[in-house]
Amino acid sequence: MLLLLLLLLSSGDGKAQHVSGQKKNGSCVCEVNSNMWSFPAVNYNAMLQQVQSCEGSLNSLQEKLELSNQRLPQIQAVIKNVTERLEPHQYLNNQGLYTDLSFHLLSQELSQLETDIGAIHSQLNNGQTQKLSKEVGKLHTDVDKMHISKTINMKTVKEKLRYLKNGVESCKSIPKDFRGQGRFCFKGLISNISDPVMTKVSPKGKTYISGSWGKQAQMDSEGQKSSYWVQPLLNSHIWGNTLHIYQTYEDFMASANHKDFTIAPSFTHANTIEGPSAVLYGEALYYHCYRSIDVCRYDLNSNTVKRVTLPGTGVGFSNKFPYCYYDCRVNSDVDVEADEMGLWALYATVGNHGNLVVSQLVWDNEAETLNVSQTWETRMFKKSVSNAFMVCGVLYATRYVDEYHEEVFYAFDTATGKEDNSLAVPLEKVAKGVASLSYNPTNRQIYMYNDGYLLAYQALF
Ligand SMILES: *[C@@H]1O[C@H](CO)[C@@H](O)[C@H](O)[C@H]1NC(C)=O
Ligand SMILES: *[C@@H]1O[C@H](CO)[C@@H](O)[C@H](O)[C@H]1NC(C)=O
Ligand SMILES: *[C@@H]1O[C@H](CO)[C@@H](O)[C@H](O)[C@H]1NC(C)=O
Ligand SMILES: *[C@@H]1O[C@H](CO)[C@@H](O)[C@H](O)[C@H]1NC(C)=O
Repeated sequence: MLLLLLLLLSSGDGKAQHVSGQKKNGSCVCEVNSNMWSFPAVNYNAMLQQVQSCEGSLNSLQEKLELSNQRLPQIQAVIKNVTERLEPHQYLNNQGLYTDLSFHLLSQELSQLETDIGAIHSQLNNGQTQKLSKEVGKLHTDVDKMHISKTINMKTVKEKLRYLKNGVESCKSIPKDFRGQGRFCFKGLISNISDPVMTKVSPKGKTYISGSWGKQAQMDSEGQKSSYWVQPLLNSHIWGNTLHIYQTYEDFMASANHKDFTIAPSFTHANTIEGPSAVLYGEALYYHCYRSIDVCRYDLNSNTVKRVTLPGTGVGFSNKFPYCYYDCRVNSDVDVEADEMGLWALYATVGNHGNLVVSQLVWDNEAETLNVSQTWETRMFKKSVSNAFMVCGVLYATRYVDEYHEEVFYAFDTATGKEDNSLAVPLEKVAKGVASLSYNPTNRQIYMYNDGYLLAYQALF
């Protein structure tokens, strides 16, 4: 039943009368109390007109309604049809295999890659760059084809892309006169690790279970030539602001004659050390800085801090991607390492699905800037490794075996972008947790901060 409101103007007093109209038998019927007027002809005519136009609009409404009633099933059918046609994509979408956005991003990444390779190619035209260009070109065509045909396996494409990206990064690092595998690195992967050659309780005591320690790690450093250092995380096993340096091995073993540096004025300062991340390299301490995705460099001579932001989409910090075995080492998100090639930051990104990412760090002594020169993406989920370190541009990751054993089980080579899952090099320890593990290129030793115990090993090749 249709209801219609009629607005009738009364004659002189300006009062309006609201009357309900009803559709009856194809016409609009309104009951109007005309007693309140003294039949003024003008108003009657006006009212008549209103009633007629009421009928007119009612009819057109009726027409529209009939039209809608016919069209509604059609519209519903179209929606159903579209829904049905979208369902397969919805399925793929739920599986994380297909989205238009991913295609778009992929295409962008590929274009960037093509540009990068073009740039390298113009400087360094060799078989490897030619091969890379060809592969990237082919992948780009494949992705464009997929976009049209919508038959996709995004996982394979992403994997291929990661592989190519690493190839390009590695290409960048190969100098024109490249012949061997670097000045100091020609012996291949680590083949074995000795029993501990040095064991000591942290000078702060073994209640401080997290931190890092080692020997100054720069190959041709003038200062701090054979300094040993310890950096315990004194606040909640997460934050630290002090560095103890011992000029000699003897002083270190005797916990005597140390020099202390205050890196930050508190445990909540922007320059505070976060996580067991530090490495003493030359005359500076490099570490992950407080609640950030930055690596900091504290200069021992000037007491100043310079920093660089790590590249990547969604760089993990504040315990998002720590090192874990069945426990996680709190806030071990960003790990700074040194080797024969220089300085590295190991971390994980959302963009690389929480897998380990390796960035090479460069300190420019003239400009006094810290920068990231290159970045590689691995396929190893960071939270599935207990720790990691770098040797000759190769990342090694460890896993927990039991309370007294760790095992190096994974290697990723930045020179080739290739990885090896088949390693099984054992490491002995004295306590469960490995806060930090660092290689030192000056003596090829490996330093472990093992729940407040300090252990050193000899790496064998
Ligand atoms: C409907 O209107 C027609 C003519 O206008 C009339 O013949 C018929 O009797 C009416 N029916 C009802 C139910 O009022
Ligand atoms: C949907 O509509 C298209 C074109 O109008 C038609 O080819 C297809 O068969 C329809 N699909 C379904 C599920 O009705
Ligand atoms: C590796 O080193 C350990 C400790 O020195 C030793 O016991 C073991 O035999 C070595 N393994 C190999 C394969 O050389
Ligand atoms: C290094 O980083 C600084 C900022 O910290 C920036 O100004 C400079 O351009 C960077 N240098 C290179 C070579 O990227």
